[in-house]
Amino acid sequence: MTDRYCVFGHPVGHSKSPGIHVAFATQTGQDIDYTAIEAPLDDFPGAWRAFTAAGGCGANVTVPFKEDAFRLCDVLSPRAQRAGAVNTLVLGKDGQTWGDTTDGVGLVRDLKHHGVALAGSRVLVLGAGGAVRGILEPLLVEGPEQLMVANRTPAKAEALAADFADLGAIHGGGFEAVAGPFDVVINGTSASLAGDLPPLPDDLFAEGASAYDMMYGAEPTVFLRWASARGARCTDGLGMLVEQAAESFFLWRNRRPDTAPVLEALRKSL
Ligand code: ATR
Repeated sequence: MTDRYCVFGHPVGHSKSPGIHVAFATQTGQDIDYTAIEAPLDDFPGAWRAFTAAGGCGANVTVPFKEDAFRLCDVLSPRAQRAGAVNTLVLGKDGQTWGDTTDGVGLVRDLKHHGVALAGSRVLVLGAGGAVRGILEPLLVEGPEQLMVANRTPAKAEALAADFADLGAIHGGGFEAVAGPFDVVINGTSASLAGDLPPLPDDLFAEGASAYDMMYGAEPTVFLRWASARGARCTDGLGMLVEQAAESFFLWRNRRPDTAPVLEALRKSL
């Protein structure tokens, strides 16, 4: 029988996950079915239960259900525990629900594909919401010289930094406390959605620095346009999307797809 997977979201019609996973499955010769399911806002556990009762064996979880997914899991990976969020659900043979988060691993892999060094680097992360919480552990594991989290609401950045302080040199503050230069600047705010740019100093980037926006689109984001004008090497978050999907696919199927052709096709389709 064909194994069933899905992505849960609300809304979910725009999701690129079905196309990505179908491409992975074709490439690796896996017989799977992958759909997008709009779960009701007030009953995510019910949607997961209904899916597994109908033969579903795993799922991706996107906005706004990552925390709901975290709460329903019987077993959590250490990194999901840290992130307080789950983007990958696996139904175990024993009927237990296992949860992991692959966003941060996806980001770090994409940075590496683009030749961005994290070890020994000065790294700035903009934003202190759920998306940023999910990437801090994998970033710190790479051993940056320092990691600053800057946020519009400084107290949230400070609290986040305190939560991860056992993993490395991390501190938090407001945008006004940002003092460059940085080798890597990652935008994890949703400011680009509103066409906004966090207030940042002009001398933010070190020589040869990289700027990464976790958002993506057919056109460069406001942040990447700003960074490019200041000499940074720019990358958007489309590769992170494909890499986090590849990690989920690996958790389900124990196969590592070649992400490059999938990313290339997705880029063309934007
Ligand atoms: P996500 O799951 O995408 O992280 P979130 O948890 O709502 O969503 O967090 C959104 C992040 O974007 C927060 O860091 C938010 O800053 P605040 O904590 O001060 O709200 C940031 N953000 C949203 N709009 C912004 C804007 N126009 N300028 C700067 N930061 C913004």
